[in-house]
Amino acid sequence: MEQIKIKTSSPEETMSFSKKLGELSEPGNVYILEGDLGAGKTTFTKGLAKGLGIKRVVSSPTFTIIKEYNGRLPLYHMDVYRLEHSDEDLGFDEYFSGEGVTVVEWARFISEHLPEEHLTIEIRHIGESEREIVLTPVGDRYIKLCKELME
Ligand SMILES: Nc1ncnc2c1ncn2[C@@H]1O[C@H](COP(=O)(O)OP(=O)(O)OP(=O)(O)O)[C@@H](O)[C@H]1O
Ligand SMILES: [Mg+2]
Repeated sequence: MEQIKIKTSSPEETMSFSKKLGELSEPGNVYILEGDLGAGKTTFTKGLAKGLGIKRVVSSPTFTIIKEYNGRLPLYHMDVYRLEHSDEDLGFDEYFSGEGVTVVEWARFISEHLPEEHLTIEIRHIGESEREIVLTPVGDRYIKLCKELME
């Protein structure tokens, strides 16, 4: 299965799509969020959190790098932007192989730590409130997930 591409025309639409991904998520899933500043990575994560049954409001974790939320499954929200020039390892493997769902913003800055199998979610800015979301699954688990997402 190749990529899934969808267009959204508001933050709410992006969140309702990512909420569905949250509902279908399984323990140990890893989502790599790509996209420029302000593309909508954190907005996407908010919807995902709702889909995981998380009641707390997800905010941008810029100063904490990793935030944990409890829901049907835990959510580990990482924003590794500040690790651009560092090769610090904050115990990433334990998150990736844990019981929760990990979302990584600016994953390119920790590329050497990322698991081989994952779902890449790229958010492209195409207008003031238009975005294109491109999902690329790597590994059988994520191919299956993408199929379910489009049913
Ligand atoms: N279709 C859309 N989908 C998502 N966000 C949208 C959309 N249209 C407008 N927006 C707005 O774009 C902004 C996206 O900000 P957000 O913090 O989610 O981006 P980000 O990719 O996490 O940025 P950063 O790289 O700074 O972490 C929000 O203000 C959101 O309301
Ligand atoms: Mg963000």
